[in-house]
Amino acid sequence: MKNIIVATGGRSLEGSIEVHGAKNAALPIIAATILATGECHLEGVPLLQDVVTMSNVIRSIGLGVEANGRELVIVPTPTVNPEVPSELMRKLRASNLVMGPLLGRYHYFRVPYPGGCAIGSRPMNIHLKGLAAMGAEITEKQGFIEAKTKGLRGTDIYLDFPSVGATENLMMAAVLADGVTNLHNAAREPEIIDLQNFLNNIGACISGAGEGTIVIEGVKELDGTSYKIIPDRIEAATFLAAAVGTGGDILIKSCLPQHFLSVLAKFKEMGAKISIYKDGIRVKGPQRLKAVDCKTLPYPGFPTDVQPQLMALMTVAEGTSVLVESIFENRFKHVAELRRLGADIKVEGQIAVVNGVRSLSGSNVEASDLRAGAALVIAGLMAEGETIIEGINHIDRGYEQIEKSFQKLGAQIERKIKN
Ligand code: EPZ
Repeated sequence: MKNIIVATGGRSLEGSIEVHGAKNAALPIIAATILATGECHLEGVPLLQDVVTMSNVIRSIGLGVEANGRELVIVPTPTVNPEVPSELMRKLRASNLVMGPLLGRYHYFRVPYPGGCAIGSRPMNIHLKGLAAMGAEITEKQGFIEAKTKGLRGTDIYLDFPSVGATENLMMAAVLADGVTNLHNAAREPEIIDLQNFLNNIGACISGAGEGTIVIEGVKELDGTSYKIIPDRIEAATFLAAAVGTGGDILIKSCLPQHFLSVLAKFKEMGAKISIYKDGIRVKGPQRLKAVDCKTLPYPGFPTDVQPQLMALMTVAEGTSVLVESIFENRFKHVAELRRLGADIKVEGQIAVVNGVRSLSGSNVEASDLRAGAALVIAGLMAEGETIIEGINHIDRGYEQIEKSFQKLGAQIERKIKN
């Protein structure tokens, strides 16, 4: 038996909604607790499959993890098992974020390659090059990566690409290193700043996150702390897109607008009216969207994690839109599904040309990854008639009961068991 989501279009979303804690801040921070010698209390953790999997990853290493709703209590362990089981690593690519903390504190790890996923091959060369520069001896054989060191030392590292995961792994490896590490061309995402703040709360000495160079001064030991995860900017952008696409009028509360200004600018260009308050955003969608061009870029550029949702809006905008995906090499899996709803999209490599149609019409579609799935839900809320979305296990990895959030905003949408 499989879960499906059934969405019926034609309604404009109205009302208010709260966003949850950021998945992509929670995952590296859970990994970072490997470095702590004291108990860590994390609050505002989203109730997501990926968080459960990451909790199981650090449990497999030996840490104690107790989940009470949106709070995680993580208890350090005197001894670790620095080898993460393959089935866990394969389930969640972000489990590669244990590499930095394990090497930094225990001077060893052996992990299976987490493997690629629907959106690309996801190599880890930038992670491993940086760890080697800090003094790690790395061997890759039979699908495993093994790293050991007598002790990491601070150094200058120039990232070939501002990789989010590589920046996070190298920050966590450097906090206990001997000396100062400068990470140049580091990722600038808000989740990187959240990781810096968490690490400094347990006693690290880091500055510069959110700018081009992050400076990490090695310290001797790290303690425990209590910490609240930042709100999820991608979930907020997803709710925004649904309101903009259905000509709705919603208020999104407990989000940080400054974390997704590029998304707000793009939606305004399409005709949305946006008002920013201290604790949220009000967005009103236009009668008809205007076509726009967009290229996904590292932060603060337009985020790749909102590319599929933007494309869903482009399918019914007036005019022709050009969308360039510059971060991942294979993040257009949602195009074939949007075409099934009547979209007119041509793809050439990393470029999609979207000719806006008057309206989409409901059909059966399948999600290939979590953001593509969210885009198909939005398209289903915009399409005439009923849309059945399969593959919603992908959506549940990154969104807490997405259908309930949209039901709160007046959408006709429900989760069913496919017989
Ligand atoms: C993080 O993935 C996010 N995941 C992704 O969100 C997000 O799409 C991505 O950053 C980009 O913003 C988490 O934070 C858990 P990258 P990450 O390393 O760290 C290439 C979602 O939907 N690259 O910045 O894996 C890589 O192949 C997920 O929540 C190398 O070539 O992304 C990709 O093309 C999906 N070598 C580009 O860089 C490396 O060593 C960006 O990857 C590392 C990355």
